[in-house]
Amino acid sequence: MNWDFEQIEKDMREDAGKISSPAQLEEFRIKYLGRKGLISQIYASLAALPKEEKPIVGKQANNLRRLIEQIIKEKKGAVSQISETSDAACFIDVTIPGVAPVQGHKHILTQTIEEICALFERLGFVIHDGPEIETEFHNFTALNIPVDHPSRDAFDTFYLEQEDKENKGRYLLLRSHTSPGQIRIMKQNKPPFAVVIPGRVYRPDAVDASHSFMFHQIEGLLVDKDVRFSHLKGLLSVFCKRFFGEDIKMRLRPHFFPFTEPSAEVDISCYICKGEGCSVCGRKGWLEIMGCGLVHPKVFEAAGYKKNEYTGLAFGLGVERIAMLKHGIHDIRLFYENDKRFVTQF
Ligand code: PHE
Repeated sequence: MNWDFEQIEKDMREDAGKISSPAQLEEFRIKYLGRKGLISQIYASLAALPKEEKPIVGKQANNLRRLIEQIIKEKKGAVSQISETSDAACFIDVTIPGVAPVQGHKHILTQTIEEICALFERLGFVIHDGPEIETEFHNFTALNIPVDHPSRDAFDTFYLEQEDKENKGRYLLLRSHTSPGQIRIMKQNKPPFAVVIPGRVYRPDAVDASHSFMFHQIEGLLVDKDVRFSHLKGLLSVFCKRFFGEDIKMRLRPHFFPFTEPSAEVDISCYICKGEGCSVCGRKGWLEIMGCGLVHPKVFEAAGYKKNEYTGLAFGLGVERIAMLKHGIHDIRLFYENDKRFVTQF
């Protein structure tokens, strides 16, 4: 057997160059230095060689063995940091900059509610909430809404199958406005106080671009002695200017609500045409944004207050409507569809 030591060394170095894990190093060791490895085979072949060749080939084999031992020693240090299970290809590089997680943000309705409430907070109002499941007493009766009023009809209010324990024979309902919150606040607090009550309300309306069976309102209530209509007008005009802009005009249009007297609807000059008349305001130049009035004596009475002891102002606004006006949103359904193309715009 003739050994080509030059070629063997070349192949061996090539094999050594590919070692990148302890397992590969062991494989390499077995291939060259193992019991049946190449070096053993070379030594075994010595016996069959002519006498004069034995020392030469033996010496070459010894040199090669030492070289291999040397290489194994060097490689051992290099691969020892790499664990048995991972190989260099899937090594985790902790210095690579991370992928930033996609961060959500508040929905435009939440933003609008917070913005409106914050404006009233700065005017001294406190934020409260009330239950979405209400009694007929809070939602209608205490608000001076007569038994035969159309809004009590099952076509205009969602009634639940649960009975109202305090008022036998009556059913609980999903509040159709945030005004029942007025009664709860009055019963629980002694005037003077000023609160805003944001929340969801429900009406069995057919869903279209401007109607939804669920939407949001913010109720406002201030009770004190000597509260007048001028206070209401001043308060709301400050709110309108701060929320819609200093150049916005506000007007109060006489209206009727059973729980306020006098009552009015609040209009602002159209923010698009500045009052000229356009398609958004239906050529009127004005946009309706809320209902308001002075608290009706019957409401105080229902809340258990003494006659003529207190006066108050109240208002209620629709959050979706205001957000639609402010941001030029043309369809109320967009708020609830969670379409990212819509949600991420605000
Ligand atoms: N609750 C009335 C509505 O839903 C709004 C309103 C609130 C009006 C307070 C006057 C006072 O339309």
